[in-house]
Parts: sequence; structure tokens; C-alpha cells
Amino acid sequence: MTKHFLTLLDLSPDELRSLINRAVELKTLHKSGQIYEPLKNKVLGMVFEKSSTRTRVSFEAGMIQLGGQAIFLSPRDTQLGRGEPIEDSARVLSSMLDIIMIRTFEHSTLETFAKYSSVPVINALTDLYHPCQLLADLQTFQELRGDIQGKTVAWIGDGNNMCHSYINAARQLDFQLNIAAPENFEPLEEVLTPKNNNINVMHDPLQALNNADLIVTDVWASMGQEHEQKVRERAFANYQVTSVLMQKAKSDALFMHCLPAHRGEEVAAEVIDGPQSVIFQEAENRLHSQKALLEFLMGYMPAS
Ligand code: CP
Ligand code: NVA
Repeated sequence: MTKHFLTLLDLSPDELRSLINRAVELKTLHKSGQIYEPLKNKVLGMVFEKSSTRTRVSFEAGMIQLGGQAIFLSPRDTQLGRGEPIEDSARVLSSMLDIIMIRTFEHSTLETFAKYSSVPVINALTDLYHPCQLLADLQTFQELRGDIQGKTVAWIGDGNNMCHSYINAARQLDFQLNIAAPENFEPLEEVLTPKNNNINVMHDPLQALNNADLIVTDVWASMGQEHEQKVRERAFANYQVTSVLMQKAKSDALFMHCLPAHRGEEVAAEVIDGPQSVIFQEAENRLHSQKALLEFLMGYMPAS
């Protein structure tokens, strides 16, 4: 059966752990200057219906480093933007490519594409989930603090695609996740179901930060929600991650943000540019963790 990566729940906890370990290994290999090209002649298709810096460059550079190639496809200059059915596009593209990543709006578009694709499909962000970012976040935490199991993560802000992927990560790796979101901006019930004791939704950021080892936030208005910016600025006014808030967490707590960030909105400049912030290591790890993902989905992951 074709393996897809549409959410973190597509992997078993053991697969997720070994993928993170492999990402650390691939990073060391790359930094030592060794050439490692298991994906020679393989081609990744990259469908982007939304903007991207990190995801595009990390997948494209990752494929080249693994010996393959990547093709960037945007709806503006393909038939995807002119209404060609997803089912047909999936059949055609997967007959020519070895693996495909998609960044789109509706999660159901991705699911339909995967259903009709004969090759692995990767979720490169939908309105509902951003699992590739979690691979990088989990790798970063592991590098700096070791196993995340039993640790406490505070999510401050919108119950959005990133928050939803943190919920899945907490299910898989068994850490405590405290989500502080304003009323009406909580994560979706369908993502919180079935209920886990280690995942709590609240409205008070101070409560969420208690004993936290990792603090994470994201923009208040995600891509596609720009028209809600003003309403959201009002709703999220008390959810900015400031240095005062950071003091409620453990003194060695880390700060992460998937980027791009808005300093002075969801996070104060002194926090995101401060000593607890690991945002650039987190961003770099997109490259290494997705190389591990590409290897895994294409069946090249060496036995551990
Ligand atoms: N974090 C992230 O996915 O960044 P891009 O939107 O730049 O790809
Ligand atoms: N929540 C953000 C993440 C961007 C990487 C968005 O969907 O725009």
C-alpha cells in the first residue's frame, strides 16, 4: 500500500521517533560534507496553492541533496488553477512523479489527491494541519532537551493548523499539552476527539505556561484569514507571548514559532529574538527532518 503523510497520525509513535532520530543523523551526515544520494533519479512534485519560503526551499534542497530533483507547480501556471479535477490531476501527476507534496486550503482536497495518487503524498500545510513543521519542532526539542515524553508544552494563541498538529504530536509522543486560546478560537472538537488526559484547552495563558518546558505560538491570522486580521487582533490582544509571560514557564524553557512571525503581535521582539528562542534551529530542521521523511516514505530508510 502507498504510504502517505497527511497528518502525524499516519505514523506509529515508533515510526515517528525513529524518523526524528534519523533526521538528527542526516543533519550530522550533511554537516560533515558526506554525499548521500539514495533518491537518485527520483522526482518530487511540489504543489503550492499558498505562499512558502521554508517549506519550498527545504523540500527542494532536500531532494537535491538526496540525489533527486523537485518540480515546483503553482495553480497560476498549471491546469490546477483552471479547475481540472483533483482526481484527474492526482492520477496524471502520480504517473510521472515519485512522490508529491501539497500545500492547499481544504484538508479534504489533500485527502482526495492522496486517494487517487499512486505515489506517496505529503501534507505541506492545509487549513487543518501542518505535520511537517512538527517533525522539525520535535527534532529541535530532542536535540536541545532530549525526549519530549512527559514534558509540558504550552501553546499560546490560535487553535489553528499548527495547534492541531501539536495535538496529534501530544497523542503520539505522550507529552502534556496546555492550549490557551481565546473563546471562539479554540482547536476544533473533531481534532480533540477522542479526548486525551494529557491535552487541556483553557483560556488563561498564565495557567497554560505553568511548568512549561516549551512555549509555542503562531500568527493570529493564518494564510486565507487575512481579512479577519482586525477582529483577531482584538480577540488575541492578551495572548502575546511577552517576557513577563515567559517567566511563568520553567527558567530553561524553549520558545518556538514556525515562522513567518509578526513581532509585536503574537510574540514580543525581546522573546523571539531572546536567548530562549530557537526559531532558526527549528527552521533549519525543516530540511533535515523532511529528508528523513522522504527517505521513509520512499522506502529508503536504513534499518535502525
Ligand atoms: N513554517 C513554514 O511552513 O514556513 P513557510 O510558509 O515559509 O513554508
Ligand atoms: N498557521 C500559519 C502557518 C504558516 C506556516 C498559516 O497557516 O498561515
